[in-house]
Amino acid sequence: MVNDDTLTSLIDEARQALGAADDAAQLANTKARYLGKDGALTRQMKTLGALAPAERAAAGKRLNEVKQAIERLVVEREQALADAQLAARLAGEAVDVTLPGRGMGCGTLHPITRTIERIEAIFASIGFDVADGPEIEDDFYNFTALNQPEDHPARSMHDTFYVEGGLLLRTHTSPMQIRYARMNAPPIKVIAPGKTYRVDSDATHSPMFHQFEGLWIDEDVSFTDLKSVYADFLRRFFERDDIDVRFRPSYFPFTEPSAEIDMRFADGPLRGRWLEISGSGQVHPNVVRTIGLDPERYIGFAFGSGIERLAMLRYGVADLRLFFENDLRFLRQFAG
Ligand code: DAH
Repeated sequence: MVNDDTLTSLIDEARQALGAADDAAQLANTKARYLGKDGALTRQMKTLGALAPAERAAAGKRLNEVKQAIERLVVEREQALADAQLAARLAGEAVDVTLPGRGMGCGTLHPITRTIERIEAIFASIGFDVADGPEIEDDFYNFTALNQPEDHPARSMHDTFYVEGGLLLRTHTSPMQIRYARMNAPPIKVIAPGKTYRVDSDATHSPMFHQFEGLWIDEDVSFTDLKSVYADFLRRFFERDDIDVRFRPSYFPFTEPSAEIDMRFADGPLRGRWLEISGSGQVHPNVVRTIGLDPERYIGFAFGSGIERLAMLRYGVADLRLFFENDLRFLRQFAG
């Protein structure tokens, strides 16, 4: 017997149950409870056969309407769940454009660059020009012009990186002496900082390092002038007066006589220790001639100093490699 009230309340009940289904699986279960093989409505349909033919058509029609009503409810619920899911996904992916951006770090000059600028400023203030030259050099400028013809034993003092075409990476900044002096007439006062290269690597040597070359050529300069200029430079570079300077005899093929410049602080952790800081000397007559000047008339003084060495002493850095690892925690300390 198909009772109309029962069918109406079946629809109401289905509406509630479907409305409570929170996801696709629950919805499928609920749908089966009404429309499945053993579902409430299916059971009603099975009773049709027992009805008298006259009633069967009307009851069948009614049951079909109920079935379609429940199916519509299922589709509506499916759509509602899909809409809710999409809305939740969009909300999760939303970008809050009002949030503040991530701050951009501000770069600073590398400590070696700062050191070079400092050296340049000090020498410029006493009338020295600042010059530049190629890092890839030829044999002539790096060696021969500096009084080291081929087979000169002093060439083995430098472990040279050779590149294609008979060229090399300059092993010192001294070739810039020759380049500058050939282009400029005396009096010459110049420094030339830059990168230099040697096959060498440990805590105090890097295959790439920096030097600055100094050259002073005039008719009447002397070792005394060189010493006072260099000592003054050191006091200004380190911003302290308690610095002693001494010249110690040495050998370089392009100077005669040659001297190592040593310095020592009267105070502080390095107090009293002589520190080797630069090579120097009176420019060899052969080099003066190579430049195109008469060694009887012109006298020159030169020096070549390691920039990392000066930076390590000024900043108290014990390992040279720190300058080239580019660890921001190290570099940031030189900001400002
Ligand atoms: N070029 C030398 C070197 O790298 C340093 C040097 C010594 C430069 C004496 C000079 C000098 O100008 O006069 O070891």
